[in-house]
Amino acid sequence: MAIEAPAARPANPRFSSGPCAKIPQFTTDMLADAALGRSHRAAIGKDKLKAAIETTREILGVPADYKIGIVPASDTGAVEMAMWSMLGARPATMVAWESFGAGWVTDVVKQLKIEAEVKTADYGDIVDLADVDFDTDVVFTWNGTTSGVRVPNGDAIPADRAGLTICDATSAAFAQDLPWDKLDVTTFSWQKVMGGEAAHGMLILSPRAVERLESYTPAWPLPKIFRLTKGGKLIEGIFKGETINTPSMLAVEDYLVALDWAKSVGGLKGLMGRADANAKVIWDFCETRDWIANLANDPATRSNTSVCLKFTDDRIKDGATFAKAVAKRLEKEGVALDIGAYRDAPAGLRIWCGATVETSDLEALMPWLEHAFEAEIAAQ
Ligand SMILES: Cc1ncc(COP(=O)(O)O)c(C=O)c1O
Repeated sequence: MAIEAPAARPANPRFSSGPCAKIPQFTTDMLADAALGRSHRAAIGKDKLKAAIETTREILGVPADYKIGIVPASDTGAVEMAMWSMLGARPATMVAWESFGAGWVTDVVKQLKIEAEVKTADYGDIVDLADVDFDTDVVFTWNGTTSGVRVPNGDAIPADRAGLTICDATSAAFAQDLPWDKLDVTTFSWQKVMGGEAAHGMLILSPRAVERLESYTPAWPLPKIFRLTKGGKLIEGIFKGETINTPSMLAVEDYLVALDWAKSVGGLKGLMGRADANAKVIWDFCETRDWIANLANDPATRSNTSVCLKFTDDRIKDGATFAKAVAKRLEKEGVALDIGAYRDAPAGLRIWCGATVETSDLEALMPWLEHAFEAEIAAQ
């Protein structure tokens, strides 16, 4: 028996978890003001880079005494330069509950060979931050993009910690409340919640992080693109838009356009509200189906950006093949692109719900998900 396809389709089928959907109604004409073919050290370029920093500060509510820098190599670049520049001064604790966090563990333990306690949890669970010693330097991911499990809040992080907290917040920034007083190093990329381009990373430093940089020199050499200090002093220019190397002025313009849009939807509150409403569409859908469930076991840790789902129906013969077939069917129908689970994650789906996604598109997708599920059950 043929299973009838839903009548309505998402207007935008882009639900990838990175690069994420561009802002609604995006066209490349919006980038016409880019300082192309100009030096990023000229006033026009520097002003744009500075505007990117200061508008980020304004929207995210970053305290005035925190430094914000635009650095090379996207979020990975920002995390790596923080770890390579700051770790080693005291013991470290590496906290991971999915693939990206696990990558930072490898770096610190195998590459930097730093004395570190490693705390991990399986996909779907989270490490209890109350069990972490914050007198060590702690590296963790705020929102685990590949498991859809997030830190619910910063309550477990003591205000009077002796160590630094280094937080990869790339799929959390602009969608979740980040407690700046609990975060010494925060990183993200433009390609996630803002739907920007992936070239550059953002590195946000608390005064304590700056103090570490100015008082500690790691035993290992640092390449130029990681160097944040000169002669024991912070290179202040990096945090005013004098980037270490040449940035893409097209990517900068694109980020500025996205920040403008963010303001137009109510700033951080508006962005968080959009992600919450988006994720709720999927949560509510799962609530009323017994064949699909959130990968996050504790509802308090469910991500509102990278929503990860697992199939729970007994009739499914091979979980990985089934999930891939559902994702492929939805892609072929042109209703959902790039929603297969991350390659290291358990079989399932991952649907991006950050602010650039329209709630109406997720509402339109849900009947298609049901349709694809039924079709694949029948096709097994
Ligand atoms: C939690 C997390 N960390 C790091 C990265 C790597 O980001 P990028 O490729 O922008 O460097 C990603 C990308 O998805 C991520 O989700």
